[in-house]
Amino acid sequence: MRNIKHEILKAFHEHPDQFISGEALSRICNCSRTAVWKHIEELRQEGYRFEAVRRAGYRLLAAPDVIKAEEIQAGLATRLIGRVIHAYDDVTSTQLLAHEAAGKGAPEGTIVIAERQTAGKGRLGRAWHSPKGTGIWMSLIIRPSMPLAKAPQLTLLTAVSLAKAIQATYDLTVQIKWPNDLLYEGKKFCGILTELNAESDRINYLVIGIGINVNTVESDFPEELKAVATSLRIASGKTVKRAELIQSFCRQFETEYEHYLAHGFERTRAEWESLSMSLGRMVTVRTIHTTLEGKAVGLDPEGVLIVQDAAGRQHKVYSADIDYRANS
Ligand code: BTN
Repeated sequence: MRNIKHEILKAFHEHPDQFISGEALSRICNCSRTAVWKHIEELRQEGYRFEAVRRAGYRLLAAPDVIKAEEIQAGLATRLIGRVIHAYDDVTSTQLLAHEAAGKGAPEGTIVIAERQTAGKGRLGRAWHSPKGTGIWMSLIIRPSMPLAKAPQLTLLTAVSLAKAIQATYDLTVQIKWPNDLLYEGKKFCGILTELNAESDRINYLVIGIGINVNTVESDFPEELKAVATSLRIASGKTVKRAELIQSFCRQFETEYEHYLAHGFERTRAEWESLSMSLGRMVTVRTIHTTLEGKAVGLDPEGVLIVQDAAGRQHKVYSADIDYRANS
């Protein structure tokens, strides 16, 4: 379906700070000048601010911080990631909707995103606090043709892409805590939950769930999270439009993913290791069945964490929680 508002926003994005005449917009959007005016008024209602000057036309002064497909897609020139976006106000969990969409054939790169989740899911069956308006709660569908055993590599690739997108947007040094948490000065602001659908040994699709505390302030966090959680705004002192950060992630992920499909995991593995705060440290690894103490020494070529115990034995850790031991 043709979306005139989308085309208007795209035109302003391509001509930042410039006036575009009503006539030019009607040509670009292939609609009447009255239709242009009507859609500009609708955008104003949604929080966009335009300056209108006789003869010169319209100029976009400010866009609201909203999670809308057209806002994310304006100026996004990716080939795959974010070409299709399903954006909602309220959902239970974007993971559930993304699974549904993927089951119905949603193309690779589709994003399901919401302003608020009422039943946000975290790793290991935990809940994920997803209040309205301040965070990014989104699920990305990808369909790599590869064996199931390689799936963890794509979560590591997501963490690397996010870390790079954040460093570029905020000029902030962030770290990855194995497997996929992003931290600033020891406090978590981003988590990743990867779920998959597979047949025999092959992946059908992955749903990569990403939760980022973007513009959250201290008092927005529930009491139990205050000591362990932070946001990009608290860390950087900067308020950033969420759509801008999502765009940056889409570009970064696409670049990493295309390189990965063409050349394999090695570059991502090296980048993950350099961004990681886990390696070389003494850790306690807790799985549902056991607890293991040792030193996190690296990722194996498949992306599995290697922990070496006091006797020098190396253990592969697939899914667990890790804590750092003091002074390590
Ligand atoms: C973690 O436990 O660290 C992972 C958190 C993942 C949260 C995101 S928010 C978007 C997507 N939908 C969900 O229900 N969960 C993921």
